[in-house]
Amino acid sequence: MLLTGRIPNHVGIIMDGNGRWAELRGLPRIEGHRRGVERTKEVIECAAELGLKSLTLYAFSTENWQRPSAEVTTLMKLLELYLKKELSRLIQDGIVFKTIGEIWRLPEHIQGVINESEEKTSSNKGMVLVIALSYSGRNEIVRAVKKILHSGMVPDKLTEEVFSSYLDTVGLASPDLIIRTSGEKRISNFLLWQAAYAELYFTETLWPDFSRDEFLLAIQDYQQRERRFGAIPARLDAQ
Ligand code: FPP
Repeated sequence: MLLTGRIPNHVGIIMDGNGRWAELRGLPRIEGHRRGVERTKEVIECAAELGLKSLTLYAFSTENWQRPSAEVTTLMKLLELYLKKELSRLIQDGIVFKTIGEIWRLPEHIQGVINESEEKTSSNKGMVLVIALSYSGRNEIVRAVKKILHSGMVPDKLTEEVFSSYLDTVGLASPDLIIRTSGEKRISNFLLWQAAYAELYFTETLWPDFSRDEFLLAIQDYQQRERRFGAIPARLDAQ
């Protein structure tokens, strides 16, 4: 598939449906997550090739801590394996690896692997790959407010721009497009502040089936959207 229109700067993805994919095949849920990681790799590669500036993947929400501990452990293990196996590839592809969320809640050895991956890719110049881990948008906003209160900032100094700089996503542009797989049409606490003007794309495809071509379809759909940011088209044309 050939894309000719504008490429979004920043895409966020809610990778959903691993469990259902496995259950439909009579497999344990973990198999869905395993296959999901393969799709994750494919989409990261495709996004970097397309020239996206950033890609944010919702891998583990604050709410996901409530899942059975065996599933949580498996998800952590998959993340660790991914980072250990793919770090050299990320470095080679010039990708900057970042995380958002309450990373301190993750097992210590995973925090170590994350820190190493962030450090070793920090001077890269390519796409920023952000993995949201132990993340929820409301939690991020509350943490930002706490930091602001602790700083003793006077209320008049607080602007939207200043507020954004206290969020985990500091330095990243807002997402232009948010994709959710598996037929659910919800944002589920993902990038709540940052998604203010994001285009939303929902597909029935379950994440383990979300191929490179499906990703390109989503980008193609985005390219047909008229983005107005609350203005009228003529006004945007004049800018
Ligand atoms: C949602 O499916 C998916 C998750 C909770 C985990 C997503 C994580 C991965 C694909 C692996 C991430 C790995 C890396 C390397 C970033 P679900 O289990 O909620 O599916 P269901 O709604 O069908 O039960």
